[in-house]
Amino acid sequence: MKMIKKNLKYQSPGINEENRYEKLHTVTFDNSQEASILIAREICDLVKSKQEKKKNCVIGFATGSSPTKVYQEIIKIHNDESLSFNNVITFNLDEYFPIEKDDNNSYHNFMKENLFDHIDIPKENINIPSGDISEKDITKFCSNYEKKIEKYGGIDIQLLGIGRTGHIGFNEPGSHFNSTTRLITLDHTTRFDASKSFNGIENVPSKAITMGIRTIFNSKRIIMMAWGIQKGLIVKKSVENNITSLIPTTYLQNHKNTTLVSR
Ligand code: F6R
Repeated sequence: MKMIKKNLKYQSPGINEENRYEKLHTVTFDNSQEASILIAREICDLVKSKQEKKKNCVIGFATGSSPTKVYQEIIKIHNDESLSFNNVITFNLDEYFPIEKDDNNSYHNFMKENLFDHIDIPKENINIPSGDISEKDITKFCSNYEKKIEKYGGIDIQLLGIGRTGHIGFNEPGSHFNSTTRLITLDHTTRFDASKSFNGIENVPSKAITMGIRTIFNSKRIIMMAWGIQKGLIVKKSVENNITSLIPTTYLQNHKNTTLVSR
């Protein structure tokens, strides 16, 4: 029997008998390593093709456990194939608020440790929401974040994880389709899921600054990752439920270039 090698190329969901229940393009793998290698390859191919055209490549990065293998693969490609990332501009999805940049649990720290310290993206090209600004400056900060994304022509490729609440970025259930970068209150489940690394839920910040649904939706390509049994229920809802603000991932059913990659 001929083995069909899986790929991430976008296809309209729900068009074949075997994916008739899918409202979101989904590719399921036996393990997250195999999937992460393909995701890293797609990102690096885009960086390279933009480089050849002397263009910037704008990447939206996520934090958390879902993208870590992808980042390891990107670092490997950088080293093994001497691929430079000097044409890359990055925008991270979110950051806790309040939090200092050098806090072990900050997403600034996560990105440094897991990716930015190991590849050659110019420091000035890295953008992550600031968790250490004063509350009165947040609105201005968020509108500048949006303007900066626009200035670079929008996000070429956006990586997403899925929270058990169905959040993307930190857009918790109830988030409006038109939402843009803003301060939000984290759901209890989200804080509970983060409590281990913060040594107790009482230490998890109650708020975060996140790109909005609209910000994410405007990305030209979106890859959403969900690994393991603990994400099974929310993956099923994301793929099969009708679009509802109660499950923010379902908004992406209307996006014409989103692939959900799961295990
Ligand atoms: C992180 C983010 C979150 C996570 C989600 C899944 O930047 O925006 O939406 O992607 O909470 O987290 P993990 O991957 O740790 O299961």
